[in-house]
Amino acid sequence: MTNATPQVSDFGSVDPAPPATNGDHQVVLQDEDARMFQRMRAVFALRNDGSDQAVDALCAAFSSTSALLRHELAYVLGQMQNPRALPTLWERLADEDEHVMVRHEAAEAMGAIGDARSRSVLQRFLEHPAPEISESCEVALDLLDWCERAEWEKP
Ligand SMILES: [Fe+2]
Repeated sequence: MTNATPQVSDFGSVDPAPPATNGDHQVVLQDEDARMFQRMRAVFALRNDGSDQAVDALCAAFSSTSALLRHELAYVLGQMQNPRALPTLWERLADEDEHVMVRHEAAEAMGAIGDARSRSVLQRFLEHPAPEISESCEVALDLLDWCERAEWEKP
């Protein structure tokens, strides 16, 4: 008899909570009284769903009071690489009232999505006094540069 161990997702990550298999993921995600573990299970279920509606549900959940959950949303939106999430991520990075951990993850997600339209907002926060923000913007801009170079160097 073996215990269940965390599984590697299709995204190559071992997630902090296994994806939920049933229930209305958007409802659980938006439920401020639900356990964080269950809300994260909904986050990973929506990520695996991968549809535009799942992206919209994840973006809508930035209204949550939990900075931890909001940071996880930004992380999975980066994994999903759907440019549909960009306006929400740009707004999260630019919000001086947003938690630094969320802003860091929003910047890195922009790099992961790899869309040049993120350059201006990333450049805007390149000199931000919080190193978590400025360094994340630097990494994301370098990733955008690297992807563009890789594109040019294709035979
Ligand atoms: Fe992070």
